[in-house]
Amino acid sequence: DKASIVVDPAFKIGDIDPRIRGSFVEHLGRCVYGGIYEPDHPSADEDGFRTDVLELTRELGVTAVRYPGGNFVSGYNWEDGIGPKADRPRRLELAWKTLETNQVGVDEFAAWCRKAATEPIMAVNLGTRGVAEAAELVEYCNHPAGSYWSDQRVRNGAKDPHGVRLWCLGNEMDGQWQIGHKTAREYGLLAAETAKAMRMVDPSLELVACGSSHRRMPTFASWEAEVLEHTYDVVDYVSLHSYYAPRNGDVASFLASGVDMDEMIEAVVASCDYARAKLGRSKRIDLSYDEWNVWYSGGSWQDTVDPWTEAPPILQDEYSVMDAVVVGSLLNSLLRHADRVKIACFAQLVNVIAPMTTENGGPAWRQSSYHPMALAFAHGVGAALRVEPVSPLVSTPLYGDVPQLDATVTYDESSGAVAVFAVNRSLTEPLVLSADLRSLPSARVVEHVALFDSDRDAINTKDAPDRVVPRTQPAPSLADGRLEAELPPLSWSLIRLT
Ligand code: AHR
Repeated sequence: DKASIVVDPAFKIGDIDPRIRGSFVEHLGRCVYGGIYEPDHPSADEDGFRTDVLELTRELGVTAVRYPGGNFVSGYNWEDGIGPKADRPRRLELAWKTLETNQVGVDEFAAWCRKAATEPIMAVNLGTRGVAEAAELVEYCNHPAGSYWSDQRVRNGAKDPHGVRLWCLGNEMDGQWQIGHKTAREYGLLAAETAKAMRMVDPSLELVACGSSHRRMPTFASWEAEVLEHTYDVVDYVSLHSYYAPRNGDVASFLASGVDMDEMIEAVVASCDYARAKLGRSKRIDLSYDEWNVWYSGGSWQDTVDPWTEAPPILQDEYSVMDAVVVGSLLNSLLRHADRVKIACFAQLVNVIAPMTTENGGPAWRQSSYHPMALAFAHGVGAALRVEPVSPLVSTPLYGDVPQLDATVTYDESSGAVAVFAVNRSLTEPLVLSADLRSLPSARVVEHVALFDSDRDAINTKDAPDRVVPRTQPAPSLADGRLEAELPPLSWSLIRLT
């Protein structure tokens, strides 16, 4: 089978915002404790951070990290996590039924971000708390000094402000499971007043309003429209969350998860633009896809551990070759919506539904999904191009007939680099990708790397951390402005040109 695309820098979708390469650290399971922070670990630095995890984070090229939740944030007192560690309270953490020791808080997280060369994104609690606590947290983080909360930060050792620009107004407030869940009207009114007060403290903030927790929420789309009617003038982004797994063994639909993500993005764009038209505004609201990934263990985590333990090993999904291919196609979907998706955070960074895993006291290793992320983050830069794929179809129970080829192309005008990201969704058939490059007459092939395997369930483990890695493929042919490359069945590919 053969599929084709046209690569022409004249057809630009939009510039890729670096914050599309974001991640998420929640006080959940072993993401913080045993993940980024483990003072007794042989690799721990003077602040107790695992330097092996810091290295993998930097290597991955994560540009921004959302913190501290997630569902966790909706019951969180941020003041519990500041000051001398010995005095910090041990709390029952209700969202994940865990014992929270508060040994990591906002100052530690800001310090970790500096070491990881990444930007902090903070979320505020709009479940059990509200306007005052959010405004005070902004004062604590961003006000230089000379006020009650900023002076506390200085006393706690952080002389310079943390300078957190991007803030999330709560988390998944449309969900019944959320502590302090609200209707769209209740949330919209609270978010608007909270945003107003936060901006009074620091007018330079960028703010994200909560969108829907997923596309099958009963209030999906009307939630966004109603929340934005209340918040339009004081927020900059609306959030999206999506997690995917094969349902009842339906692998074909799972491989087409990117189709669902495309539809979700386009529906939320429509809701944002509806609110814009209705309110008669010229400002545009963009999208923050601040939780996305493959996630298997969703409903079962409560059965796996005792409640009220510290940092239990929950939601520690292991990702296969097939999962990595799906992650690759989700990245394609984000990149091809670069005109509206300005922020994206894969969830989560380490141990909890994450591309890297650690053992307490032991090593850290890359899961299969780490690889498409790292390569897409390194090479999916510049602008996303409209490539209009023409492809054979594969049929799926959930999404009907979908293209066998899922392709996104990026073009970096400053370096002339072109990156073709291509997924072959067929479980059995290879696919020849033909790319028309006549608009780039001087383009030369750099490499073709692909992630695939005869065992689609293969995973990386502590003892075999490199079982699943991208492999260099024979160089694609390029003649008379036409490139041809073979995409193995069930594969994710990166073809680089310069
Ligand atoms: O990332 C895990 C959880 O998924 C988050 O806490 C929540 O926001 C979402 O439902």
